[in-house]
Amino acid sequence: MKLLLVFLLALTLSACANNTLKDIGYSDDEIKVIESLSDDSINIIEKEPYDSELMDLINDPTFDEAKLDEYLALDGLDADDRLMIVNKGYYSDTYDATTLALMKTSYYIHDRLDRYLAYIDSVGETDLRSVVEHVNCDRDHEVYTDTMVSDTSKGDLMIANKYYTIEDYVPEDLVHIDSYYGLDAYLDRDTYEAYTAMADQMMSEGIDVWITSAYRSYDSQVNIYNRYLATDPQEVVDTYSARPGFSDHQTGRVVDLIEPGGDLGSFEYTDAKAWLDEHAYEYGFILRYPEDKEDITGYMYESWHYRYVGKEVAKYIHDTGITFDEYYAYFIGS
Ligand code: DAL
Ligand code: ZN
Repeated sequence: MKLLLVFLLALTLSACANNTLKDIGYSDDEIKVIESLSDDSINIIEKEPYDSELMDLINDPTFDEAKLDEYLALDGLDADDRLMIVNKGYYSDTYDATTLALMKTSYYIHDRLDRYLAYIDSVGETDLRSVVEHVNCDRDHEVYTDTMVSDTSKGDLMIANKYYTIEDYVPEDLVHIDSYYGLDAYLDRDTYEAYTAMADQMMSEGIDVWITSAYRSYDSQVNIYNRYLATDPQEVVDTYSARPGFSDHQTGRVVDLIEPGGDLGSFEYTDAKAWLDEHAYEYGFILRYPEDKEDITGYMYESWHYRYVGKEVAKYIHDTGITFDEYYAYFIGS
């Protein structure tokens, strides 16, 4: 008898739930889907008006039932947008078309949303990938103003650019370059080992290459920069030389390469450069200031300047074509 009563009560309750969902406007098929959710979720859905995106939400493989009320709160948006916003935590005051398009742009960093929007307003840029790329590389900020101190504990992935200073950093494990490979200078040990393996392979294929600049201390960058300032105005010098404390060379993980007998300017046209285009990443090196990326890196194209970042990151940068500055912003800095 008691069992029968419990059974009848359960039947009535389930009929009620059914009625409520039906009253809201859900079809029998939709109700079946909703009823596959927990009682708590059904209760939440019953308190809301009909949601035409609900089936798309529930049926999506990324749907997280624990976040149901958050998806429902974004009514008026497509299921895909609601899934993206909630799953990635891309909450914002407004979800206009530009904001939603930015959120779907490669390498979008949510913390920078306001900066992307301000950049669009100030420069009138409409290519959103370009907006994201520029702002990720801090190009919406004045160079050498409000600079940040770089985290040198990132080792091979530390950054030095016009926004990040490595101050008076000196690499802990500097190795003297053998005269077989280059001038009288030093490199970080891992960089040196990776470089010599690469140069040995190049030379075994009959391609000559020579290091003409490597680690530069803070003080040597002072001398170099001042020497340039004696001939060029600062805005010109800044397109080809870093200010002291901001040079990639000071990381100890950089080589400037020439062919013996050649110079930096002619390196672009050498077999060595063609070989490096194809293989440098296999040894952990990237071209730090690529052609057509001057507006991103802040420096003119340097066909000779190779930075060691390790094999994994070098392969990623080689395959995607993003700059190290953007890699750092997206994967390391944020
Ligand atoms: N030439 C590069 C940008 C440097 O001075 O570090
Ligand atoms: Zn260089």
